[in-house]
Amino acid sequence: MTQGYFISFEGGEGAGKSTQIRRLAERLEAAGHDVVVTREPGGSPGAEAIRELLVNGAADRWSPVTETLLMYAARRDHVERVIRPALAQGQIVLCDRFADSTRAYQGAGGDAPASLIAALEDHVLGGTVPNLTLILDLPAETGLKRAEARGGAARFESKGLAFHQRLRAGYLEIARREPERCVVIDADAELDRVTAAIAEAVAQRLDLR
Ligand SMILES: Nc1ncnc2c1ncn2[C@@H]1O[C@H](COP(=O)(O)OP(=O)(O)OP(=O)(O)O)[C@@H](O)[C@H]1O
Ligand SMILES: [Mg+2]
Repeated sequence: MTQGYFISFEGGEGAGKSTQIRRLAERLEAAGHDVVVTREPGGSPGAEAIRELLVNGAADRWSPVTETLLMYAARRDHVERVIRPALAQGQIVLCDRFADSTRAYQGAGGDAPASLIAALEDHVLGGTVPNLTLILDLPAETGLKRAEARGGAARFESKGLAFHQRLRAGYLEIARREPERCVVIDADAELDRVTAAIAEAVAQRLDLR
C-alpha cells in the first residue's frame, strides 16, 4: 500500500502558517510531489460547518471542554474524509493546524483536561498523526499585531495576551516532549528566512530538489 506524508503547521495567531504552507506547497509541487493543502478547524464540508461555530462569536461562547469536543467532531470528519484518503493515495498532506492546536488552545490556553485531550487523540485519530509538525514560534504580541494588521475573523484573537502567552508555552512544551515529530521554527524573522528554515526541516525528510 502506498503511504503519503502528513505535515501539520502549528503556532499562534499571525505566526505565518497560512503564508508558509502556500510556499511549501509550491516548492513540493515543483519537486514533483502530489500535494493536498487543507486546514483546521474545517477541511471537509461537515468540518467547515462546525468551524463556523468555533471561529465566530464571543470569546467565551464555548467552555474549553465544549470547544474540545466540537474540534474533535470536526477533526474526525476531516481525518475520515480528506486526510486518510489522501495519505492512502500517497499524497503529501499539508494541514494548517491539527491536534496540537487543541492541546495548545483548549488545553494550555484554556483548562480542558490533558487526560480528555489525550483520550480523544487516542480514540478519534486512530493513528492518523502527523509525520512532521512545524511549530512556528514567535512572541504572542508580535503574532497578534500581524493578525490585527491582516484583519479577519477574531474569536481566538480576542482572548487576550495572557491566553496567547500560555498558548506559546504550550506549543513549546509539545515540541520538548516530542522532539522527533516536532521542529520549532523561529517565526519572528523575515518571511524568506522562515521559508528557508521550513524547507530545510522538510528536506531532511522528503525530496525537495
Ligand atoms: N515572517 C513574517 N514577517 C512579517 N510578516 C509576516 C511574516 N509571516 C507572515 N506575515 C504576515 O502576517 C500576517 C499573518 O500571517 P498568516 O496569515 O500567514 O498567519 P497565520 O499563522 O496563518 O495566522 P492565523 O492563525 O490567524 O490564521 C499576514 O499579513 C502575513 O503577510
Ligand atoms: Mg492562517
